[in-house]
Amino acid sequence: MKYLVLAAAILMWANGLKPATDYWFNFVLVNGTEVSPLGHFRLPPNAGANLDSLKYAFFSCSNWPTGYFNAYDQASKYDLDFWMHLGDYYYEYGISDGSKDVRWEAPPQGLQPSGDIQSLDDYRRRHALYRRDPGLQALSATAALIAIWDDHEFMNNVWSGGAQNQYPGEVEYWQRRSNALRAYTEWMPIRWNMTDTPALNVPANYAINRTFDFGNLATLFMLEDRVTKRTQAGQDSNEFDPTEITDPDVSAEPIVGSLAPSDWNSTVDAAMLQLQQQLNIKRTNKSDLMLGPNQIAWIQSETQRLLLYAVDKILMPNVIAMIVIVIQLQDYEGVLQSAMAPNDAVQQYWQEVYDNLTTTPAAGAPNHTYQTFATTPSSLSKYASIQNVTDSVLTSSRVDVALGRYNINNDFDSWQGYLWDRYYFLGNISKANNPTIYSGDSHDFWTGYLTLVNPEEYVTNGSNVPTSPIVATEFDGGSVSSDGGSSTDTWPLDYSNAAWMAANPNMVHVEQRYKGYVYVELTPTNQHVEQIYVSTIASMDYVGFCGVAFDVPARVNGSGEIVINPGKCGSVPGATTPYKSSGVLVTPTYTVSGVKPTSIQAGTAMPTDSFLTAA
Ligand SMILES: *[C@@H]1O[C@H](CO)[C@@H](O)[C@H](O)[C@H]1NC(C)=O
Ligand SMILES: *[C@@H]1O[C@H](CO)[C@@H](O)[C@H](O)[C@H]1NC(C)=O
Ligand SMILES: *[C@@H]1O[C@H](CO)[C@@H](O)[C@H](O)[C@H]1NC(C)=O
Ligand SMILES: *[C@@H]1O[C@H](CO)[C@@H](O)[C@H](O)[C@H]1NC(C)=O
Ligand SMILES: *[C@@H]1O[C@H](CO)[C@@H](O)[C@H](O)[C@H]1NC(C)=O
Ligand SMILES: *[C@@H]1O[C@H](CO)[C@@H](O)[C@H](O)[C@H]1NC(C)=O
Ligand SMILES: *[C@@H]1O[C@H](CO)[C@@H](O)[C@H](O)[C@H]1NC(C)=O
Ligand SMILES: *[C@@H]1O[C@H](CO)[C@@H](O)[C@H](O)[C@H]1NC(C)=O
Ligand SMILES: *[C@@H]1O[C@H](CO)[C@@H](O)[C@H](O)[C@H]1NC(C)=O
Ligand SMILES: *[C@@H]1O[C@H](CO)[C@@H](O)[C@H](O)[C@H]1NC(C)=O
Ligand SMILES: *[C@@H]1O[C@H](CO)[C@@H](O)[C@H](O)[C@H]1NC(C)=O
Ligand SMILES: [Fe+2]
Repeated sequence: MKYLVLAAAILMWANGLKPATDYWFNFVLVNGTEVSPLGHFRLPPNAGANLDSLKYAFFSCSNWPTGYFNAYDQASKYDLDFWMHLGDYYYEYGISDGSKDVRWEAPPQGLQPSGDIQSLDDYRRRHALYRRDPGLQALSATAALIAIWDDHEFMNNVWSGGAQNQYPGEVEYWQRRSNALRAYTEWMPIRWNMTDTPALNVPANYAINRTFDFGNLATLFMLEDRVTKRTQAGQDSNEFDPTEITDPDVSAEPIVGSLAPSDWNSTVDAAMLQLQQQLNIKRTNKSDLMLGPNQIAWIQSETQRLLLYAVDKILMPNVIAMIVIVIQLQDYEGVLQSAMAPNDAVQQYWQEVYDNLTTTPAAGAPNHTYQTFATTPSSLSKYASIQNVTDSVLTSSRVDVALGRYNINNDFDSWQGYLWDRYYFLGNISKANNPTIYSGDSHDFWTGYLTLVNPEEYVTNGSNVPTSPIVATEFDGGSVSSDGGSSTDTWPLDYSNAAWMAANPNMVHVEQRYKGYVYVELTPTNQHVEQIYVSTIASMDYVGFCGVAFDVPARVNGSGEIVINPGKCGSVPGATTPYKSSGVLVTPTYTVSGVKPTSIQAGTAMPTDSFLTAA
């Protein structure tokens, strides 16, 4: 809080800054007694000016109690031009009694405030807590942040008129959302006039959607898809209209939960297809919006504007959205049938997992067992332990298999619940030169192509319509510390990765085992993308390493194929390479010794135009 006055001063001075210039700055307490560590940022050249390369990283989903922000610390070792946070910069939740995570404890490590945040003071204190993380501090001091919010900056699964995590007796939705916004504008570096607090009860068009030009090399668009136009998604049972349908998992359970897949007969078939149809009606409702027509028209005209001066230049407009698009559904049967050669050791292992998780042992036979998996420390007590396949595990595993077999998606908070808006969005960016979508939200790493498939076809064939054009590439993930694939932790994560790939032909790569971020090097001819993983978030002793890399060659004048090629990992500061490529059984490990994060050293390049200390 005490640096707030000078933070406001930056906004006023921002107009005087020069493009293509490095700046160093301190915050100084008004009475001069305390000086912050030195911070650095670099401004890009103006739109159209020559620029040969850009290095940046993007992050999402940083949950204080579930782990240390080692991903930020790792990224601070690069010389980044900027970094992005694509939402869930913090979480609104309070301490949940059931979980014991690494940072639940008393101050200064423990979660504050301890309950779900609601008041303006709550939101401010939560921001302040997160800023204590040494990794976040190191990265913040290294390069400028460009941020967009997701739901947890407000409350879980927020939309333009409500939220899932919004209950009677709490601070009322509009007041709470205004509190969240106000705190956000105070603490985050965005172009926003703090005194311009949104009026309550007025659905505002928040100007957080914005454009950043990086010379003639790239243009970055940040899109708002949470609180401006978004209609209610319906995913958790308390979000669906009760007259409509409940959670797909919940609805599928009475149909398949008590039967092994080998016993699914025509009755089951009919019931599952009916469920699929009901959900597809929901997904293809043209009134359901995520971005809405105004923002789609805006992004369309922005990309067209860029093409005007992109003539004869290789321009990479990067379109940013923060909600996963590629992700569709996972097919545990499909991967067994198609992904591996029969009798392959891995396939045999997965077959055994499948049998154990979906069939009841013969009378008198011992229980089937499974090995648990986890990606965050909260589940470490269960990690890598052998458990009996209980009735509830059997039920949920059968539901997982059925949703894959019957092509039923159960994530309606993502673009999967907004198929027409998705179709229009993709159609409207399809003329852009080299559109790339970066997203967060899912807590895992996804890489793939986005194709323009009419929603009516999409609900039956997914993205698997060979005649549909590829309009963009997408790189998502992972999370800084939020729980990801371990929510499906009855299935081994390598099997789960393969099941996603099997069901979604446009998916190029899936990784649910690691926490981390995505690092990008952009040049006029190539977009080089690396997934950087951290070995642990349970302590600050970690190793960062590049798990996989991709190259997207630039198209010229918007012609030629959009293609994602395998890339080579570059050297990562402090890295080792414990990662093995997919298909090989790897279990993540949390017992790694490694480098300790170092705090940023001030003064190595004290500039002449350090403007804040002069204040
Ligand atoms: C400066 O301000 C801080 C914060 O308000 C206060 O704790 C400190 O005592 C002040 N120091 C002096 C010398 O006034
Ligand atoms: C912020 O908005 C207020 C009220 O609209 C206005 O008086 C003030 O000049 C604005 N400040 C800046 C820095 O734009
Ligand atoms: C399918 O199986 C269920 C449960 O075993 C049974 O109740 C139903 O009669 C069967 N339907 C047909 C058409 O065989
Ligand atoms: C379609 O969506 C709108 C807006 O969310 C909603 O009001 C309407 O009831 C939905 N219609 C159907 C058939 O679900
Ligand atoms: C954000 O999108 C709206 C359309 O929804 C557009 O009118 C506005 O200009 C955009 N904001 C900025 C800062 O470009
Ligand atoms: C791109 O388009 C411009 C204008 O149509 C043309 O002059 C230029 O030769 C094209 N560049 C390439 C590499 O095709
Ligand atoms: C199977 O596991 C359950 C729960 O752990 C246990 O109660 C039951 O006795 C086990 N059955 C056999 C046959 O081992
Ligand atoms: C399947 O369950 C059996 C016990 O019925 C156990 O011995 C085996 O290890 C389990 N297989 C896997 C892959 O978990
Ligand atoms: C699994 O079931 C067996 C047999 O009933 C029991 O001895 C064992 O403790 C159970 N294991 C777990 C992890 O519950
Ligand atoms: C652009 O989006 C609008 C709705 O927002 C839609 O009517 C239009 O067909 C879209 N254009 C393309 C080319 O997909
Ligand atoms: C949908 O998938 C089916 C089966 O894979 C295929 O026969 C059909 O051609 C596909 N439809 C389209 C429009 O591609
Ligand atoms: Fe998240």
